[in-house]
Amino acid sequence: MDAIDAILTRTSQGKLMAPAPSPEVLQTAFACALRAPDHRVLRPWRYLVIQGEALARLGQVFEAAQRAADPALAEQAAERARKMPLRAPMIVVAITVHRQDPKVPDEELLLSTGAAVQNFMLALRAQGFASMWRTGPLAHDAHVKESLGLAGDESISGFIYVGTAAAEPRKVTPLPVSDHVADWQG
Ligand SMILES: Cc1cc2nc3c(=O)[nH]c(=O)nc-3n(C[C@H](O)[C@H](O)[C@H](O)COP(=O)(O)O)c2cc1C
Repeated sequence: MDAIDAILTRTSQGKLMAPAPSPEVLQTAFACALRAPDHRVLRPWRYLVIQGEALARLGQVFEAAQRAADPALAEQAAERARKMPLRAPMIVVAITVHRQDPKVPDEELLLSTGAAVQNFMLALRAQGFASMWRTGPLAHDAHVKESLGLAGDESISGFIYVGTAAAEPRKVTPLPVSDHVADWQG
């Protein structure tokens, strides 16, 4: 698949099944992520790969976080939290490292992670896999961050659910470019 096709046909795929990408496919996708533009070459990103039984352990972390946030959490909601990570055979946690640099505002570190994650998802797409970027309150939860081993200067930019598409990709209607682009002539 050429790059333009991979970009134009990428959609979020919530229905994911095994197989997850092989180590070789994943290696290529991470190599693409690591080619993201990055002001002052700070390398402000790192990734955790979660699969197999660790997905269930992440579910326990999500449940504990929800229970801590709401001690009266209904059993159904607890179960939903516990099962969240089981929606894909692999989750990649994209972490932004908020390095201090006098010339790089913090938001540029997040922008770089966004570019990296997009590279990663497109590289998976180009190799026949699908993915979905998810965040939500659990991405900002202190218990989740601690359980995943984040340092004080790190944040979760995304839980990237990864696998094989279990449903037809959504057909995308291209947005009119002219709605979002204008010439500026001074
Ligand atoms: C930073 C970020 C966070 C996102 N978090 C969620 C999320 O928590 N839940 C969700 O359903 N989709 C999430 N998405 C995916 C968007 O919903 C999705 O990209 C959007 O609906 C457009 O669909 P498409 O990716 O198929 O074009 C997120 C996307 C980004 C860039």
